[in-house]
Amino acid sequence: MQIQHNISLKSFNTFGIDVNAKHFASVTSVKDLKSIFSSDEYPQKFILGGGSNMLLTKDIDALVIHLNLKGKTIVSQLDNEVLIECNAGENWHEFVLWTLDNNFGGLENLSLIPGNVGTSPIQNIGAYGVELKDTFVSCKALNLETLQIETFSNKDCKFGYRNSIFKQHAKGKFIIVSVLFKLTTTKHKLHTNYGAISSELEKMNIEHPTIHDVSKAVIAIRESKLPNPKEIGNSGSFFKNPILSKKAFIKLQENFPEVPHYNISETEIKVPAGWLIEHAGFKGKIFGNYGVHKKQALVLVNYGGASGREILKLSQLIQSTVLRIFDITIEAEVNII
Ligand code: FAD
Ligand code: EPU
Repeated sequence: MQIQHNISLKSFNTFGIDVNAKHFASVTSVKDLKSIFSSDEYPQKFILGGGSNMLLTKDIDALVIHLNLKGKTIVSQLDNEVLIECNAGENWHEFVLWTLDNNFGGLENLSLIPGNVGTSPIQNIGAYGVELKDTFVSCKALNLETLQIETFSNKDCKFGYRNSIFKQHAKGKFIIVSVLFKLTTTKHKLHTNYGAISSELEKMNIEHPTIHDVSKAVIAIRESKLPNPKEIGNSGSFFKNPILSKKAFIKLQENFPEVPHYNISETEIKVPAGWLIEHAGFKGKIFGNYGVHKKQALVLVNYGGASGREILKLSQLIQSTVLRIFDITIEAEVNII
């Protein structure tokens, strides 16, 4: 395993922020991962997956470990289900396309999400009515204290909206090295209720969709509003959608009767942060070489050459403005480094 020094991370983060890693290693085996963590040569270490959920605000004065663990295995196949173990360094969307090529169902709504398979449990990635937790069986993770591999079941992970134990008390203590999925092989359960999917399928003149059609519809919707990081730097939704108590929501609705919302339980209501940011006047705003995307106000963009600090400052301005106008705190989804 080769260790490089003073490497630019610009091509390793989808925001395209140009900061340096003091040391950098691409790790292709769990054995190498263990040997790095058992040595004191580089005391500070930082894990990098696909770099699609981070805003780098400074050089990283550590050994950046680019997780490059490749490979996937069909563990078992029964009547209508298949168990697949996929290593952490596989690209998420390429993995989804591979499952579709094999006619395995369950991940089609999660098409075109950037990043790596190993990172997918951390925030329980979700889109278009489906979350990772719906097909996740377990994951294997390296315990950084004991250097033993531990297995976390679906229940152990305590998945929630953009949340899991890996963002809570297990944060920074484990490296996920593989994920086990349970997918369908014949009787696929389609999730087409999400408004935009059914209208996209109608547009495509498809009455009886397959998992492939759902994937195509999701890709078309995403391409119509989310910027492609290869063209415009971004990290997807910068903020999480806030979840309000009924009391707080009623107060908001009194002042803003048109606010979109989704009931998520008897007592909690989710409000789209994109709507709040748009109605705070930020949608499409350009500040030099960075700004707020013109088609999706939840996405902050780097038009080229912006620093992480500039984008962080913009995100703080958006947070304080949303708080002042709507009395709602919106939290970053992106990891600020
Ligand atoms: P990174 O950015 O590399 O890492 C994120 C954090 O996890 C860092 O703190 C890192 O240190 C840590 N980490 C990385 N790998 C591991 C590991 N194996 N073990 C332990 N810690 C690790 N997300 C959604 O949920 N739904 C969407 O629809 C969606 N759409 C997006 C669209 C765009 C255009 C973009 C750019 C992003 C989008 N995202 C979405 C966010 C992002 O794709 C996901 O959060 C993804 O899972 C991040 O994976 P990554 O490998 O790039 O993580
Ligand atoms: N909206 C606006 N203005 C905007 C953007 C959104 O008013 O500029 C309102 C509209 O009412 C719209 C609603 O917000 O109907 C929802 O918008 P959208 O369907 O685009 O979804 P979102 O809530 O903005 C969430 C996820 C996305 C995921 C999509 C689809 C979060 C933080 N974001 O976005 O995930 O792809 O739903 O399921 O939950 C990500 O996490 O990085 C990400 C892109």
